[in-house]
Amino acid sequence: MAKTVLVSGGAGYIGSHVTVELFAAGYEVVVADNMSNCDLTCFNGVKKITGREDIPFYEIDCCDYAAVNRLFDEQKIDAVIHFAAFKAVGESVAEPLMYYRNNLVSFLNILEAAKNHGGCNVLFSSSATVYGEAENLPVTEKTPRLPATSPYGNTKTMCEDILRDTVRATETIKGIALRYFNPIGAHPSALIGELPRGVPNNLVPFITQTAIGKRECLSIFGNDYPTEDGTCLRDYIDIVDLAKAHVAAVSRMLDGRMKEGYEIFNVGTGRPVSVQELVDAFEKVNDLKLNYKIAPRRPGDVVAIWADTTLANEELGWKAERTIEETLASAWAWEKSLAGK
Ligand code: UFG
Repeated sequence: MAKTVLVSGGAGYIGSHVTVELFAAGYEVVVADNMSNCDLTCFNGVKKITGREDIPFYEIDCCDYAAVNRLFDEQKIDAVIHFAAFKAVGESVAEPLMYYRNNLVSFLNILEAAKNHGGCNVLFSSSATVYGEAENLPVTEKTPRLPATSPYGNTKTMCEDILRDTVRATETIKGIALRYFNPIGAHPSALIGELPRGVPNNLVPFITQTAIGKRECLSIFGNDYPTEDGTCLRDYIDIVDLAKAHVAAVSRMLDGRMKEGYEIFNVGTGRPVSVQELVDAFEKVNDLKLNYKIAPRRPGDVVAIWADTTLANEELGWKAERTIEETLASAWAWEKSLAGK
């Protein structure tokens, strides 16, 4: 019988892409989402791509323990992928209590309910933010984590520790934390993608919205950094590649291939790309001119971060495959499809 994976936050950007890849790999999926930062666009897109109209969907808030517990009563869950969280760095600085409550309580509830239902395999969506401004690049999973510069970042570090400690104390719970670098792009079908509410914080949605005319001008935050062209370096990982890393990690847990009860993997490409290079590549591959200007640095940005992906490549048997050109073309196709809706 197919194993069932609960995807919390499954109607969102990363969750919807992961749901598609889980079905493609033969898993059953249950989606839970409180719809606090998305609408039904991506969930409907997932149904179209997979041809599955019957995906179990729980519109619940994972901060509601009774609701999470009921879900575990009703469904036999073999693994959980936990995405349900707030993710805006700036907002977390302004509203720390809201971020700590939401991101920590929801994860505690998932773990508690899993434990009370005989245990589970738990995959936590962490972030390269835990490395801060790392001294040595690229970062490996052994690179020390640095104190986070935002409550959002703190919740990632704390949830990693909560998972590690829970695994240590609970024989029936196994855990993997995936540390994402910068997820970008959309599904090749252009049926699912990133849907930021309001003004996008992240680079690629701001680029595509500028290209389509929703925003007047992109600001490149700083060109006086100590890098070759003066703009920041990041490791942009294609969303479908990222989704496939989740399938690889879940299979590793479900097939009993973990080497330790709690494992961590970087999920990136291993290639640093500057903001300027990304903007240039977007213009080139989509054959357009972007309205942009150089603006002051954005407070809190690290100069450079990219992943050493050796561990994920070797242990998960996973590797990023799509080129940055394919990814940027997919982001633009998605933005155009939204304009047509
Ligand atoms: N940038 C611009 N203009 C913009 C938006 C971003 O120049 O309008 C630049 C940023 O300064 C940065 C790069 O583009 O150099 C990438 O910025 P993003 O906001 O897209 O991504 P970040 O690397 O800042 O953020 C990511 C994740 C966060 C995570 C953070 C820290 O989105 O969840 O990394 O690791 F917290």
